[in-house]
Amino acid sequence: MLIYADGSWVDASEAVVPFNDQGFLYGDSLFETIRINQGNPFRLEKHLERMHSGMDTIHMEGESLLKDIPHILETFIARNDVDNALTRIIITRGVSRGSPWSTLSTPSLYLSARPINEVGEWPVKVVFLEEKNYPILRFHPAIKSGNYLGNMLAKKDAEDAGAFEPVFVNRDGYVTECAIRNIFFIKDDFLLTPALELGVLPGVIRDTIMELAKRRGLKVRETLIIQDDVQEMDEAFISSTGVGVLPVTWEGFTSTYQHSKKLRTDLTKLFESGESHVS
Ligand SMILES: Cc1ncc(COP(=O)(O)O)c(C=O)c1O
Repeated sequence: MLIYADGSWVDASEAVVPFNDQGFLYGDSLFETIRINQGNPFRLEKHLERMHSGMDTIHMEGESLLKDIPHILETFIARNDVDNALTRIIITRGVSRGSPWSTLSTPSLYLSARPINEVGEWPVKVVFLEEKNYPILRFHPAIKSGNYLGNMLAKKDAEDAGAFEPVFVNRDGYVTECAIRNIFFIKDDFLLTPALELGVLPGVIRDTIMELAKRRGLKVRETLIIQDDVQEMDEAFISSTGVGVLPVTWEGFTSTYQHSKKLRTDLTKLFESGESHVS
């Protein structure tokens, strides 16, 4: 596979990041995982908007790099003959010159891809973990930065506990999101998901699901969900670019996943159509 590494196309086995790149040194970077379906990026503009917002938040100058991404991505897809994949775009603050906190670097762009691992069997298990035990970055609006240490530690703890994904609960007892996914619940004909004001990532798939749910007549609410209430929910699922809609369960929770199943089918169809928009 050919990788785009800061202006050059190189074979994946030869691609390197400079030792003094700010992203490598301090996690001073932003990333996006973009789904490619039948050679078409899914909602690229939403990913670019989110990256743009992240750049504003961390004061990174990289407007012109952002503008280059659609063309570079198109070239990447063509040169690697990509059909279905998860592409990863990373913008770092670049090679460090000056002091780390006032570096004179110019941002660097990297692009690679990995296969989509479809999760065939569901529901998968989740565990609720206290956010305060992990170094999780919370900004509002949330940024997708290279600082995923807390997320990865929680994911490892969840997997060690036999779960697929952790679900975080903040200091006030509210459910926020997963380590690398958003979470949804269904109660009667309401689709509920934690509000962005909690600092959760505005997932591209989160948005898409809310559109699909409205089309199915569900009432969508971005709201505060207290952990004590989750046992009373009818259904629950997690969402991301990689897994789409994935029904979940936990100790003592059972469901027929009546609506979740339909939303999962709707989203899979949208992916398979190679289109980005709900018609
Ligand atoms: C913390 C977090 N929440 C949610 C998501 C889901 O976002 P998306 O739907 O854009 O893949 C991700 C994806 O990486 C994430 O890292």
